[in-house]
Parts: sequence; structure tokens; C-alpha cells
Amino acid sequence: MLLKRVLPFLILWLGFALSQSDQSTTRPNIIFLLTDDQDLHLESLNYMPLLKKHLLNEGTFYTKHYCTIALCCPARVTLWTGKAAHNTNVTDVNPPYGGYPKFVSQGLNSDYLPVWLQAAGYNTYYVGKLFNALSTTTWNAPFVAGWTGSDFLLDPYTYRYYNATFQRNHDPPVSYGGNYSTGANYSTDVVASKAFGFLDDGVKDGKPFFLGIAPIAPHSEVGEPNATSEFTEPLPAARHKYLFQGVQVPRSQSFNPDMPSGASWVRALPRQNDTNVAYNDHFYRQRLRALQAVDELVDDLFAKLEAYGLLDNTYIIYTADNGYHIGQHRLQPGKTTGYEEDVNVPLVIRGPGVAKNVTTELVTTHTDLSPTILDLIGLSPRPDFDGLAIPIHVTEIQRAKRSSKQKWQEHANVEFWGVGIGEGTYGDNTLNNTYKAVRVLSEEYNLYYAVWCNNEHELYDLSNDQFQLNSLLLPSQAQATLLDYPVSKVASRLDALLLVLKSCKGDSCIEPWLSLHPQGDVSTLTQALNSKYDEFYERQEVKVKYTKCELGYLIGSEGPQFLTDGLIYRDGASWSAWT
Ligand SMILES: *[C@@H]1O[C@H](CO)[C@@H](O)[C@H](O)[C@H]1NC(C)=O
Ligand SMILES: *[C@@H]1O[C@H](CO)[C@@H](O)[C@H](O)[C@H]1NC(C)=O
Ligand SMILES: *[C@@H]1O[C@H](CO)[C@@H](O)[C@H](O)[C@H]1NC(C)=O
Ligand SMILES: *[C@@H]1O[C@H](CO)[C@@H](O)[C@H](O)[C@H]1NC(C)=O
Ligand SMILES: *[C@@H]1O[C@H](CO)[C@@H](O)[C@H](O)[C@H]1NC(C)=O
Ligand SMILES: *[C@@H]1O[C@H](CO)[C@@H](O)[C@H](O)[C@H]1NC(C)=O
Ligand SMILES: *[C@@H]1O[C@H](CO)[C@@H](O)[C@H](O)[C@H]1NC(C)=O
Ligand SMILES: *[C@@H]1O[C@H](CO)[C@@H](O)[C@H](O)[C@H]1NC(C)=O
Repeated sequence: MLLKRVLPFLILWLGFALSQSDQSTTRPNIIFLLTDDQDLHLESLNYMPLLKKHLLNEGTFYTKHYCTIALCCPARVTLWTGKAAHNTNVTDVNPPYGGYPKFVSQGLNSDYLPVWLQAAGYNTYYVGKLFNALSTTTWNAPFVAGWTGSDFLLDPYTYRYYNATFQRNHDPPVSYGGNYSTGANYSTDVVASKAFGFLDDGVKDGKPFFLGIAPIAPHSEVGEPNATSEFTEPLPAARHKYLFQGVQVPRSQSFNPDMPSGASWVRALPRQNDTNVAYNDHFYRQRLRALQAVDELVDDLFAKLEAYGLLDNTYIIYTADNGYHIGQHRLQPGKTTGYEEDVNVPLVIRGPGVAKNVTTELVTTHTDLSPTILDLIGLSPRPDFDGLAIPIHVTEIQRAKRSSKQKWQEHANVEFWGVGIGEGTYGDNTLNNTYKAVRVLSEEYNLYYAVWCNNEHELYDLSNDQFQLNSLLLPSQAQATLLDYPVSKVASRLDALLLVLKSCKGDSCIEPWLSLHPQGDVSTLTQALNSKYDEFYERQEVKVKYTKCELGYLIGSEGPQFLTDGLIYRDGASWSAWT
């Protein structure tokens, strides 16, 4: 295991050490591009030709990459700490359950990626949105730690495309009043020019560097004083405002369907009328337009990297904090659900030794990205990581795919607490959007299982129902089978897996089946489905359930906990509860 993590770095390092005498340039640079609310499922990537040219054509596209909580701030905290939201307890965008103040009070400001990178001798730079509630009142209370150079967007102006406020290093905030007609001070353009400034600084300084670039596109505009709702459609750069006339949200089977679908409040949504659909199509076009400035940023970035001769020693990672839906399941524009549109997000990696123009279906999550970055620069994983370094070099991916004892993970754990946020003119906030879910994917299966805080359950077989429209746990599906078994047999395994994952830490997040089967003979759903475990899984009473819907991670309302109530399979005995 350790060797697997360290060996690729050793080879890389030896390669550079032999070819270059200056030790300081041997470790690779990392550039992390993070968009905000960018979908994978609504085809936004198809409208970014420059991203295709520099990243998809020249790198590896992880098509089964998941965010583990579909909301900006918690997702970002997970990205920069390598920990699941239930282990950071930053679960919302604002206090008391989230936002920058919660990140600080959880002790994370001194224990996250840039701090570790600096300790390892890296220069670290960041431009754009870091966390919600990093604001014109909290920016220096305390300062964000870990950055050699930083220029953060501040609330309440973070999502103002033409009136951003930036805060550089330890300097006071500066307002960037813009102009929608001339395009002056368009947020993404300002982010780009600041990012290129830090790139210049990094090159001049000569140390290896990490550069985070986090434009707000294609997030909604928020808090525009004349707007009729808090969240309105994003604003493009002036030069892009007439593009994509007539383009519509892809009309997939789940788009504004005749029949309701999903669970809880989603199932109660009315079908959208034509006015609403036309507005949502406009909303969609504004997102695509807003992404054009990001596409140009990518092009300019690669031109600079090429001019500096950095491409042979720089990894470029592109992802989004969470996904997005518009109209699927009749939902108004937004995120926060566990459906595929919101949790399966773009991830593209380009760099030395990374296969070009290929896609991989390895199941990866945001929890894995901090471990991946440490691995790339040759640092050991931290013991409290809830994820694992993603195989990114060609040979590692091949090895991970091969079925072996140390099989690559097949699960992505998804969790959420709080409010479902509907954006745009017809959006509305919906209470009790608290749920736990797990995606399980392999060559044999493609499943989504969720338990909501009102104890509704969902189970979709995405190999037959890719749009998650027919839950196999509805009474109408009583005769259904799944993987040739009764649905309840598969559900019993998924529930036990979710029981472990909902409070897992470290290794139990990475190899959850091992918690249930400490002998190590079960590491996949297929193995857990062996009939010798039927009694263990199907007769026990300890199930994922809630006693109440809460807005945050209040453990007392979250029913049985694996560590105190969980089950462990013991050979010989049919099943036994931990006491
Ligand atoms: C990328 O691969 C596809 C097929 O998988 C091929 O059609 C295309 O030409 C390739 N593009 C480049 C730039 O190599
Ligand atoms: C722009 O931001 C500044 C604060 O930085 C604020 O005073 C001003 O009211 C904002 N303008 C608009 C039109 O929102
Ligand atoms: C953009 O914002 C900067 C920073 O406040 C300001 O100096 C500059 O004049 C603005 N540009 C325009 C065209 O308004
Ligand atoms: C934006 O620029 C246009 C064209 O120069 C100008 O007429 C308009 O007054 C400006 N608007 C603001 C709010 O500065
Ligand atoms: C908001 O409306 C007021 C009054 O109509 C107008 O003076 C102001 O320019 C508007 N602001 C924006 C940002 O459109
Ligand atoms: C369409 O639906 C929206 C949102 O429910 C509603 O506000 C609006 O009045 C409806 N319009 C028509 C023409 O029915
Ligand atoms: C939300 O959950 C709370 C606590 O579980 C419950 O009292 C309330 O009725 C629920 N509200 C809705 C709209 O379902
Ligand atoms: C998470 O944070 C909230 C708000 O501070 C707190 O009430 C709750 O007990 C915390 N949960 C855990 C499991 O520590």
C-alpha cells in the first residue's frame, strides 16, 4: 500500500533529479482550477472548446468523480482537508453549521492543504472564492492561514459578477465596481489577471508552487440590489452576452417529467409551466455564457505555462465544488440533492505521466483530492484522511482497474444537512433536505441508495434507470428484482454499508466493508451478497434511520451509530451486535 503510494513519486523524482541539477525545481507545481456549481450532466463541458483542447484532449477525464456534499462551502472544506463533511462538521454555508467561522472554530484553519504544502517548502497562492461567510467582516478575524499570496472574494459581494470585493494578502478589502455594458471589472476576468500575477510571482520565486484559481462561474448572481429574488441567473462577460441564442436545457427523460419522482419534497414538486421552463432555459444559457470567461482563462493559463516552460513539471487539476440541476425531477435550478446531476462533477487532470485524451470510470471523490495532491509531491497521506490518492499515471490506473485483493473503491458516500435551495425567479427554499446516500458502481452494478431524515428510502438501479426516476423501494415495485436478487436483499447490504459510511473516519471511509467483515473477505457489494451473509444482513434491526430532521450534524437525531450499535460479521455466529 505504502509502496504503491510512494513508488510513482520516486520514479518521477528520480527522473527529474537526473535531468535537472537544481533541486528546488524537481518537485512538481500544482494548479487547481475550481469552478462553482458546474454541472457534468447538463453538457456544460461541450460549450468549453478551450478546456477540451488543453485539458480533455491532453489529460485524463474522471467521469465518475463525486462531490460528497452538494453545497459550496462544505464541499470546499472537504476538498482542502481530505475529510468528509461529517468529520469537518462544516456542513452549511453560514454559521452555526458552516461558513468560514465554522471552519476556523473547528481548528481547520491551521490544519489544511496550503498549511501542509507550505510546511513542505511550497509557495501557495489562491485567487477567488475560498469559503462562504469569508466576508467584509470576517476576513481578518482571523486571517485565512496557509497562503504565500492570496486574493479572496468576500461576501456579501462574492457572487456579484460586476461588483466583486477582493481582499489581497493582509490588505483591506477593495471593491471592484464594474459595468455590464462595457464589461469592466467582470469578476472572472479579474480573477484571471490576479491568478496570472501570482503565477509570475511563483515563477520568479523559484520554489515549487500550488496555485488555486476559483472563479465564481457559473454560480448564480446573489444579492443584486434590484433583483426580485436573492439568487438570479449568472451574468456573462459583456463580450459573451449574445452567445447561444435558442440553446435549451437538454430534454432528458428526467427534465420536467410528467410523473413526479424522487423522495420527500422533491416528489411533491408541481410540473413546471411554459413560462417557468422558458426562464430556466434562459438561466441555462446564462450559465454557459458565464463559463466562456473561464474557458478563456484556461486558454490564457496554458499559453503562460507554455511560455514559462512549466508544462513538463506542472499538474493541472480542473473540477467544480458541486454539480447542478435545472428542471430534472421538476426541480428549480440548484444543487443540494443527492441525484447524479448534483453530485457527479467534472474532474480532469493533466500533467507529466498522465494519459492524454482518455476517460476513466474509476470511482473518485473530492475527499480524495487533497490526498492526491500530497501524493503527487511525495508527502505521506495524513492519518485522518477519509480518502485515498487517486491513481493518475497511466500505469497506476491500469493497476487499480485490475481486479485484485487491493481493488480500487467502488463507493461514493454522499451526505447533506439542512435546506434544499431553489434558485432563480421561481426558486424556493425547502426544509428537511437532510439525507445520507451512497453510490455504488462497478462493472456489474450502478446503484444509488438514500435514506432521508423523515426515513423515506430511495434505491435506483442506474444501469436500467440512468435518470433515477423509478425507485425500487416504492410499493409499486414490490415484485422487482435487482442483480437477480430480491430488492430487499441488495438493500440490506447497502443499508449496512451506509451505516458504516455515515460516521466513518479514515480507513473505515476508504474500506467500509472491512468494518462489517474484519476478516477481510468482503471488499465489494458482490462479495457481501453471498448467501452465507443473508441472515447477518437481513435479520438484524440496526438500520440507518433518523429521529428528527435537523439543519446540522446533531448526532442525537441520527439514529443508530455503527461504532456503538453496529454489526460485525463473525464466522460461525450468524450475527451479533457490538456491545
Ligand atoms: C481523442 O480521442 C478520440 C477517440 O477516443 C479521437 O477521436 C480524437 O481524435 C482524439 N483527440 C486528440 C486531440 O487526440
Ligand atoms: C458595490 O459594492 C460596494 C461595496 O463594496 C457597495 O457599497 C455598493 O453598494 C455595491 N453596488 C451595487 C450596485 O450593488
Ligand atoms: C475596477 O476596480 C478597480 C479596483 O477598485 C478600480 O481601480 C478600477 O477603476 C475599476 N475599473 C473600472 C473600469 O471601473
Ligand atoms: C457603463 O458604461 C457605459 C458606456 O461607457 C456608460 O454609459 C454607463 O454610464 C456606465 N454605467 C455605469 C453604472 O457606470
Ligand atoms: C437599481 O435601481 C435603481 C432605481 O431604479 C437604479 O438607480 C440603479 O441604477 C439600479 N441598480 C442597478 C445595479 O441596476
Ligand atoms: C407558472 O408557474 C409559476 C411558478 O409556479 C407561477 O408563478 C406563474 O404564475 C405560472 N404562470 C402561468 C402563466 O401559469
Ligand atoms: C421537517 O422535519 C421536522 C422535524 O423532523 C418536522 O417536525 C416537520 O414537520 C418537517 N417539515 C416538513 C415540511 O416536512
Ligand atoms: C456540529 O456542529 C454543531 C454546531 O456547532 C454542533 O451542535 C454539533 O454537536 C456538532 N456535531 C458533532 C457531531 O460534533
